[in-house]
Amino acid sequence: MEKPPTYKDDKSLLFDEAVDDFRAYLRYMGAMGCNGFAFSQKTRDILDRWGKDVALTEELADIRRDLGDCKRCNLSKGRENIVFGQGKPRARLVFVGEGPGHEEDVQGEPFVGAAGQLLTKIIQAIDLTREDVYICNIVKCRPPHNRNPEQDEIDACLPFLVRQLKAIQPRVICALGAIAAQTLLNTNDPITKLRGGAHEYEGIALIPTYHPAYLLRNPAKKRDVWEDMKKVKKIVIGH
Ligand code: URA
Repeated sequence: MEKPPTYKDDKSLLFDEAVDDFRAYLRYMGAMGCNGFAFSQKTRDILDRWGKDVALTEELADIRRDLGDCKRCNLSKGRENIVFGQGKPRARLVFVGEGPGHEEDVQGEPFVGAAGQLLTKIIQAIDLTREDVYICNIVKCRPPHNRNPEQDEIDACLPFLVRQLKAIQPRVICALGAIAAQTLLNTNDPITKLRGGAHEYEGIALIPTYHPAYLLRNPAKKRDVWEDMKKVKKIVIGH
């Protein structure tokens, strides 16, 4: 005769047992006068994500695998490396730039050249590090001579960025420059009109700001970027 499942061989029973224990513990703590717990940031991140499409959410590694040795547009012909993106897979903050430059193409990582060094400083100015955030671009291969990506190149690459953003589920996206802001907001409005406003991408706060490469040429605009970053910080950290 078949034995009934025990707590040891049925994981759902084990889980039920743990939940019962935890419930009893909370009841005991409540009776002792405890009415709250201080959770770590990691625990709060887990609770934030609890029950949200867990089964439907894919991993960044799956998306990278699907991208493969991409030849979906002409940018593949001149590239050295695909620059997929870099950083924390569950980052609260994602920076989206335009496309890799020479240094990024050589190293296969986003924002590692002069503009990237400025972006690193911008991230540090809001008390974060590059490891705390995720950094990627609208197109993953370097446009020749650093020209703007063409619409067909953006169209070929965008589905992968859309999937990356869905997988990461950040609280805020910071769009760096006109191409990133216009693409994610599906508008032709100039960056001068977009920055300073409150926007959303798929229910995620989107803050457009000037591209760090533009800032290197126009340092007076750093003041505006600082205003934008204060808003970013408020959403990410809560103050
Ligand atoms: N500029 C971008 O838009 N992206 C990079 O990765 C580097 C420079």
